[in-house]
Amino acid sequence: MLILGIETSCDDTAAAVVANGTDLLASIVSSQDTIHAPYGGIVPELACRSHIANIRPVIHTALDKAGVSLSDIDLVATTQGPGLIGALLVGFSFAKALAYGLRKPLVPVHHLEGHVNSIYLEYPTVPYPLVTLVVSGGHTDLYYCPQRGHYTILGRTRDDAAGECFDKVAKMLHLGYPGGPIIDRLAQQGDAQSVPFPRAMLNKETYDFSFSGIKTAVRSHLLQITDSTEERVFANDTFWPLPETSRWEQQRNDILASFQQAVIDVLVGKTLRAVKKTQAQAVAVAGGVACNSSRRHAMYLAGDTGEFPVFFPSPKYCTDNAAMIACAGYYRYRETPQCYHQQNFLDLEAHANLAIPDLHR
Ligand code: KG4
Ligand code: ZN
Repeated sequence: MLILGIETSCDDTAAAVVANGTDLLASIVSSQDTIHAPYGGIVPELACRSHIANIRPVIHTALDKAGVSLSDIDLVATTQGPGLIGALLVGFSFAKALAYGLRKPLVPVHHLEGHVNSIYLEYPTVPYPLVTLVVSGGHTDLYYCPQRGHYTILGRTRDDAAGECFDKVAKMLHLGYPGGPIIDRLAQQGDAQSVPFPRAMLNKETYDFSFSGIKTAVRSHLLQITDSTEERVFANDTFWPLPETSRWEQQRNDILASFQQAVIDVLVGKTLRAVKKTQAQAVAVAGGVACNSSRRHAMYLAGDTGEFPVFFPSPKYCTDNAAMIACAGYYRYRETPQCYHQQNFLDLEAHANLAIPDLHR
């Protein structure tokens, strides 16, 4: 069965052709990073407009690369939510029209279930029960999964998502967008022990996270250490003017490494506690922040110590892509194929705050 996956929930226009759920024939992602970079974050209207311009070429490139045509597609899978509503609408409406015109089924996919499914693209069988951490620019969610497609939410962020926090700290320091990969690189040249940033809620019973405090701690630390003859301020969430001393670069890298370590300690600590408490057989980590090299290293180390396997998708499947959407769509279709035919999908709409399917509390 050939699945066409479509993803436009945020700032990447993506299409993929996947055979039978995990056999990847093509995955195309058109990034809008250069469009949003000058603003230090995503501008929803610009994202929506770029999706409109990109959606057709991206789908056609995916089909060409896979060596198939539209008429070969058996199933269309597309992100229904959550995400930016204007961005979601482009991919969702396009997919609906396409499935209707081709007389094929359409499977609406929850974006986070897509991220969870990115694991199966490379590891089709993972042991259950599984603790899954989805950590992206919009979400930081910890789930217990007794079996594939079933989720019990253990905890989530009460304020900023971890990726959002990386992006905001990078913006403070004029480093560009998205901040995660830049901080990942610069932190490798810094001392992670140099600033004792808070590990928010690490020792509390809850599995919830909070990342807004560490952002404020970085801000206060910057004002403190650079307080010299020149007056420095935060304007538009950016630190002005940046110091020009010879020490500054090292100082900045030390701050970034310490910040990154504080975020990682909380993510790894809570995941580890969840594994112990639930007696899960394995851990899976997905979403853009799962690309982080120190984070991968720390989680693998925790897995070695605790003697449980840890699964990370390759970086290209951690960030938003449509292969994970096709994979999730195929799985849902196989469960209940009768649910996805035309009479069922014409009334469906995209939802900015869609709840994950089969979620238990
Ligand atoms: O999953 P994703 O592509 O989009 C959302 O669904 O949000 O995640 C994007 C987020 C951004 O906040 C970006 O800064 C972060 O993932 N990210 C990273 C790294 N690569 C991307 N964060 C830390 N380290 C990285 N290497
Ligand atoms: Zn995502």
